[in-house]
Amino acid sequence: MAFHIRFANGLDMPYLLDIDLKSFDEEFGPEMWEMLGDIGTIRVAASANEPVGFAIYQHDAESLFINRLAVKKDRRRQGVGSSLINDCMTFAKDNKIPLIETRVPECWCCPGQPQDATMFLKAVGFKAGKLTKREYEHLGEAICCIPFTRWVR
Ligand SMILES: CC(C)(COP(=O)(O)OP(=O)(O)OC[C@H]1O[C@@H](n2cnc3c(N)ncnc32)[C@H](O)[C@@H]1OP(=O)(O)O)[C@@H](O)C(=O)NCCC(=O)NCCS
Repeated sequence: MAFHIRFANGLDMPYLLDIDLKSFDEEFGPEMWEMLGDIGTIRVAASANEPVGFAIYQHDAESLFINRLAVKKDRRRQGVGSSLINDCMTFAKDNKIPLIETRVPECWCCPGQPQDATMFLKAVGFKAGKLTKREYEHLGEAICCIPFTRWVR
């Protein structure tokens, strides 16, 4: 499948909402998308201009944080997810940002399970870490997630 990566636009929204809804237990509502579009960056992988995956990230001088990354179910294992990560890497490199981070719910860190994300993250160069006590307290006990990081080289 041929695809290219570009910035999201308004026409993409129904596709992005659909991919999100079918990829996560708790989908982002339209307000959340609007907010993330305002404060962050939404990159889209598009095939024949139709979105088949997306990455949402925010950054500062220290790190680029991926809020959300998903690929349409029937387009997975075709290099879309890794291309979106490479796109983040290129942005980080160009802007001298040393680290890429993301967080994954603990229940998605079980290799062999359908929702496992760790095999993908490992394949694209991330390493699992631990939340600091401060981060854990900030997130609250309801959200048990594992931080993953990748240095930008
Ligand atoms: C995780 C996700 C983004 C991967 O997207 P993708 O387009 O399928 O990923 P790629 O095709 O680029 O995969 C790259 C490599 O990652 C590994 N990988 C990806 N998905 C995998 C899986 N389900 N099981 C094992 N390894 C996997 C493989 O090594 C793969 O290379 P290969 O296909 O040549 O073997 C996609 O499965 C998804 O949207 N999942 C639901 C949302 C999610 O988990 N988001 C969190 C991601 S941080």
